[in-house]
Amino acid sequence: MPSTYIPGRSADEVARAYGISPEKVIKLGSNENALGPSPRAVEAIKRHLNKINVYPSHGYAELKDAIAHYIGCSAERIIVGNGSDDLLNTLVRNLYVLGDQAIIPVPTYTYYEVIVEAGRGTCVYVNRNEDFSVNIDNIIAALKDNTKLIFICAPNNPTGNAIEKTALKSLLRSTEALVVLDEAYAEFTTESHADLVNNFDNLAVCRTFSKAFGLAGLRLGYAVLDCDLARDYGQRMLAFSVNQLAVEGGVAALSDSAFLERTVSMVTQGRQYFREKLPFKTYPTEANFVFVDVAPYTAQEVSEYLLSRGIIVRNCDAFRGCSNSHIRITVGQPWQNTTVVEALNEFVNSV
Ligand SMILES: Cc1ncc(COP(=O)(O)O)c(C=O)c1O
Repeated sequence: MPSTYIPGRSADEVARAYGISPEKVIKLGSNENALGPSPRAVEAIKRHLNKINVYPSHGYAELKDAIAHYIGCSAERIIVGNGSDDLLNTLVRNLYVLGDQAIIPVPTYTYYEVIVEAGRGTCVYVNRNEDFSVNIDNIIAALKDNTKLIFICAPNNPTGNAIEKTALKSLLRSTEALVVLDEAYAEFTTESHADLVNNFDNLAVCRTFSKAFGLAGLRLGYAVLDCDLARDYGQRMLAFSVNQLAVEGGVAALSDSAFLERTVSMVTQGRQYFREKLPFKTYPTEANFVFVDVAPYTAQEVSEYLLSRGIIVRNCDAFRGCSNSHIRITVGQPWQNTTVVEALNEFVNSV
């Protein structure tokens, strides 16, 4: 059976299934930004709505310059895509030949295995440590001549672990395979590793506007990588995979430091609150979600209970390497977090 990506449930779907009005649904299952979109991005998009009769400018120079400035690297190293999923997919298809291997430390973002299989490659799964940090020795032990890619998600979805720079460097030195570092949640952690691209041409760092900038529905992602790989990607990507409103929204969002600060502050306080108040074991997290072990109950029964109360969280059953008692809860606005904590306490007291 090929791996399939199962997205989080939508508010409309849950509202219909449980007879709740959609505005009452609390959606904390897809790691979106509970504050909404960056207001500057929204303004910019509105201003440019009447220009969508024109194609985006070829090469996306303005967007790439803005990203390069935000990251602190040369614009030649930037590639952009219709969400980082599109970017990862195109990157894998460009690099892969039949039978090549990709190493994936699990549990992690399930889309990696989907795109490797779709590119007719082979996934080699390696275990993480007991605390879900990446085990570099396990990866190095799994390296083969036909290992083309290594996926590292940091902070990791769904477990929240970051990766130490020293560990990442030692992996980069041990292989010529391309290490794809997915930093979708970088803004919520203290350290990004995008600077290492200047020293290692086998590193590609992927980022997204979907999380900290609140633009998941707009679809915009980017990566920082070796200039030759970036040029090659630019020649093979679909000419206009990023639409003009995403370009305008993305450039404006990068300048919206007030929104970014509010988001990061809400997330850091909310994840601390969850760790203190949830009646279950939680794990340290550097992302905008908390990984929770609801044992002795199952993820299925807990997430169903929350759904019946109009709260969507992520049942992690579909993540390879998770147990049947793992759930992931996105940090929401304070009132949403309080509602989740109260509901889970009621669940524990009622069974
Ligand atoms: C680790 C990780 N990478 C990438 C993505 C997808 O990002 P985008 O919306 O830019 O496609 C997600 C979405 O949840 C994610 O968790």
